Amino acid sequence: MSLRSVLVTGGTGFIGRHFCRSALARGMRVTVLTRDVKAAKENLPPETRLCGSLDELRSHDTFQIVVNLAGEPLAARRWNTARKQSFYTSRVGFTDRLVTFFKNHNQVPDHVISGSAVGFYGPSQAPLDETSSPIDGFSHRLCRDWESSARAFEALGSRVCCLRTGIVLGEQGALSRMLPAFKVGLGGPLGSGEQWMSWIHRDDMVASIHHCIDHVELRGPVNATALNPVTNRQFTRALGVALQRPTILPMSAFMARLLFGEMADELLLQGQNVRPAALSASGFKFLYPQLEVALSSLLVE
Ligand SMILES: NC(=O)c1ccc[n+]([C@@H]2O[C@H](COP(=O)([O-])OP(=O)(O)OC[C@H]3O[C@@H](n4cnc5c(N)ncnc54)[C@H](OP(=O)(O)O)[C@@H]3O)[C@@H](O)[C@H]2O)c1
Repeated sequence: MSLRSVLVTGGTGFIGRHFCRSALARGMRVTVLTRDVKAAKENLPPETRLCGSLDELRSHDTFQIVVNLAGEPLAARRWNTARKQSFYTSRVGFTDRLVTFFKNHNQVPDHVISGSAVGFYGPSQAPLDETSSPIDGFSHRLCRDWESSARAFEALGSRVCCLRTGIVLGEQGALSRMLPAFKVGLGGPLGSGEQWMSWIHRDDMVASIHHCIDHVELRGPVNATALNPVTNRQFTRALGVALQRPTILPMSAFMARLLFGEMADELLLQGQNVRPAALSASGFKFLYPQLEVALSSLLVE
């Protein structure tokens, strides 16, 4: 088989870096489109090809695969109008420009795997799969519009999968933000603690991107979440047990809203109970189906 060439946006990020390493290990040719080539050089293996802008992407480079993960981080700081706009432009606007680039250069990637999130479904306690109807809200609209801009690749002839990603557990992201408080025994449930957390281990996240590339029967939305979502209270208990620390200090919804503003309601106090129906039906085998094993594997790293 000829060397497969993949263009990765967001390749310098938490998920993207792991994906790039695994793609190189599988013998793919990897090009990362980044805003900061110098920083990317320090963080990615030397075999990675780096490109600072779409204009710099040579028109004769052909990519069979696009993995589109770029986006302004959602949980880094409190939300305001400008930040919410930046969540949009860095995902929807950026993906629109990517589609235009391929269209203008008469190129059609065979497979486009693009980011999305379980926030697509809006807050819900009921079990959800890819066919479930969403509830409106900022997160839903952001994911819906991001998916729809990625699906414009379909008009060019590409197969598109949108990964409705859960909370990715690894050395960065949500877990790394929780650990300092939990390690000193100051962790506890958030709000009611009954909100669902659909999580996925970092290695399963990367494997699910490869699975979507390889399984041509998959297209459209694909939930990237583990088989066993948990409530926030169950997550809190499991993390406390893994760290051998008490988790008796709850944070009230009032305090969460005071500290995190609108982000508290969109990302922390409400959640989704998501099932990976499309991954399961296409034979995906999770390395970490259970939270306890996922946490202990990460905490010994
Ligand atoms: N991690 C999770 O738990 C999780 C859950 C659900 C969905 N997701 C989605 O999956 C994608 C990847 O997640 P991640 O955790 O790997 O993200 P990340 O670590 O925050 O990395 C995102 C990448 O996007 C690029 N980026 C950041 N701000 C940007 C901006 N304003 N304009 C254009 N590009 C920008 C950056 O690349 P350069 O600096 O190299 O340009 C960065 O490396 C994100 O879009 C995220 O929303 C993640």
